[in-house]
Amino acid sequence: MENLSNERANFGSRLGVILATAGSAVGLGNVWRFPYMAGENGGAVFILIYVVCVLLLGIPCMISEFIVGRHGQSNTARAFSKLAGGSPWTVIGYMGVLTGFLITGYYAVVSGWCLQYVWASLIGHLHGDPDYFKTYFAGLAADPVKPVLWTVIILGMTYLIIENGVRDGIERASKLLMPTLFVLLLIIVVAACMLPGAEKGIEFLLKPDGSKLNSDVFLGALGQAFYSLSIAMGCLCTYASYFSKYTDLTKSATQIAVIDCMVAVLAGLMIFPAAFSVGVKPDSGPSLIFITLPNVFQQAFAAVPIVGYVVSLLFFVLLSLAALTSLMSLHEVSTAFFQEELHTTRKRAALTVTILTSVIGAFCSLSLGAVEGLSVVGKTLFDWFDFITGQIFLPVIGFLTCIFIGWVVPHKVVHEEFTNWGTLRGRFFHLYIFLVKYVCPLAILFIFLHQLGMLE
Ligand code: PHE
Repeated sequence: MENLSNERANFGSRLGVILATAGSAVGLGNVWRFPYMAGENGGAVFILIYVVCVLLLGIPCMISEFIVGRHGQSNTARAFSKLAGGSPWTVIGYMGVLTGFLITGYYAVVSGWCLQYVWASLIGHLHGDPDYFKTYFAGLAADPVKPVLWTVIILGMTYLIIENGVRDGIERASKLLMPTLFVLLLIIVVAACMLPGAEKGIEFLLKPDGSKLNSDVFLGALGQAFYSLSIAMGCLCTYASYFSKYTDLTKSATQIAVIDCMVAVLAGLMIFPAAFSVGVKPDSGPSLIFITLPNVFQQAFAAVPIVGYVVSLLFFVLLSLAALTSLMSLHEVSTAFFQEELHTTRKRAALTVTILTSVIGAFCSLSLGAVEGLSVVGKTLFDWFDFITGQIFLPVIGFLTCIFIGWVVPHKVVHEEFTNWGTLRGRFFHLYIFLVKYVCPLAILFIFLHQLGMLE
């Protein structure tokens, strides 16, 4: 009989905490956006700015969510409400859960495409001229059945992991999937960097070029840092509610951020050397991973087709793993919410979330061409989900969380969580509070206005 009210589940080890949370952070964003942004916007200079954004803004926001989650020992909505003591600040938590919920279906669609590409690589269907890859992807995205099926499959896989609980599900899966992901990444990086002409790609990614910098680049780096660290979606808060009272929040946030940055840079070292060795200029987003890269891998390893086949297959397996671990964290936000708020079992809560997000995912997927009329004001449902969650909810929740922690919650409470009730020195506490109070909210406000086109 499943336990409904007893002691709260938690991660069993420090490694579990780091790998599970890094699993949330490392996702499609690391592979399909970061490398391109870095290459286009000044190489090493951009990477430096990105790291500064992560250090000064990303990590403090992450710690803030950890504080709310671990203090609340419950799902994101309730965790905020506990700290807010019933005041209107409670709303932030509900917004976090809603965003996590909405983005799950949409993220699952793209994750489903990754699985479809694993399958297509496996059976040798990813083979043809550049036009073939374009038509293949367009055909898949607009297909009424296949992508919906893959969306349901990846959500089903997520369900099978999540239903086993925090330790036996999320933690165990992360301990298996994340190291596999790192190994695959290293294999592909080595293979790509050994290609003739690879240096040009490495140079494109890393060569410092300060002339490209402008406010767009800066705000772009900031937005990417937030997205890449899974900030403001309820994920960090939910996972932190499973941290123990010994978990050093600052150290964990830093380690997770370092892993996330490393994977992003390594993704660049996997993509650009291969692309430049065959003279293809890489782009970003879905077209990078589903159109450009399969073609690049095929051409780059044309001399030994079996290597091309293996690299392409491993690449999509890697991508699916990255997507799956992020999806687990998103799914968990709503699962924890339903389980605790509806007083039901974990299995039932997880199943409900799987079904509801499958429906959202199906509609998002169908809006990409299979069914007419799923567009609103010129944007497909898919694009709407992307826009509302990433560009509206993310900055709003991030902003409110900083204000809440910096200005509303008594610093004594924040300090207790920050120092594990005085057992840690908390050397950076004052810096942290300063950043959360002033720097982070202002920076987020800038990104928000910039994204809405109100700031040129
Ligand atoms: N951080 C993930 C990525 O880089 C995306 C994500 C955002 C996942 C929010 C979960 C929650 O792709």
